[in-house]
Amino acid sequence: MKRPRYLLRISIAIPRLLLLFSFVLLSSAPGILSSRLVTLGSIEIFKTHEWLPSKPTVYFHCQGENKTILPDVKKTHVLYTFKGEESWQPLTELPDKKCKRCGIYEKDNLKPDDVYDEWELCADDFVDGKYIHFKDNEFNATFICPGCTASTGSTHTSASNTRSSAKKSHVLLVIVICILASLLMTIGAVAEYKYWQKRKREQDQARFLKLFEEGDDFEEELGLGHVI
Ligand SMILES: *[C@@H]1O[C@H](CO)[C@@H](O)[C@H](O)[C@H]1NC(C)=O
Ligand SMILES: *[C@@H]1O[C@H](CO)[C@@H](O)[C@H](O)[C@H]1NC(C)=O
Repeated sequence: MKRPRYLLRISIAIPRLLLLFSFVLLSSAPGILSSRLVTLGSIEIFKTHEWLPSKPTVYFHCQGENKTILPDVKKTHVLYTFKGEESWQPLTELPDKKCKRCGIYEKDNLKPDDVYDEWELCADDFVDGKYIHFKDNEFNATFICPGCTASTGSTHTSASNTRSSAKKSHVLLVIVICILASLLMTIGAVAEYKYWQKRKREQDQARFLKLFEEGDDFEEELGLGHVI
């Protein structure tokens, strides 16, 4: 019996779908391919450090990087919220395992700049892509970093552990799918080759028989009598 052609089509299509699926999985997995860009979600300052009442120039700065001036933040006790797409965003990018020493400052024309606060900004501190930094009497800010997302854990280490193990199982899943896909692809290719071979043999046979019926002295001519 001939194997239906559509079965072959399916056996070729499945690995392709699997590959596509693993690609989608990869690109949707946070923290694998996506970067750890940190944006400012909101900020409220509680004071300015000048003694003359004036509009402050507030900026965010990480050691060794450029200052990011927050152009809108001028008034105290006003909650400024941001979409993350403002011209001065993102603030910085976090490496995987290392923290950055960053802070919020106020420009001062006479003295060195005033410090609202300076702290270690770590990818692990983000819970569901969000991190709130609050300093009494100074400011309250939320930072957004979807690529930094850690699962909610009680302690620092357990949070980062679950995150990295979740990431590992994600990667493992992708690898398994890729191996499965290439295996199926190989099987599909072999099946197609076998099918093609079989068809060719059948066609040859049919042609042979036709020739045989047409010519009486066909056997002698080709000397292939023993085959049939
Ligand atoms: C800092 O700013 C300068 C000038 O705007 C730019 O050339 C440089 O690439 C920036 N550096 C970083 C780390 O963003
Ligand atoms: C800081 O701001 C966030 C977001 O606006 C808010 O949920 C939180 O309650 C604030 N925390 C304090 C101590 O004001």
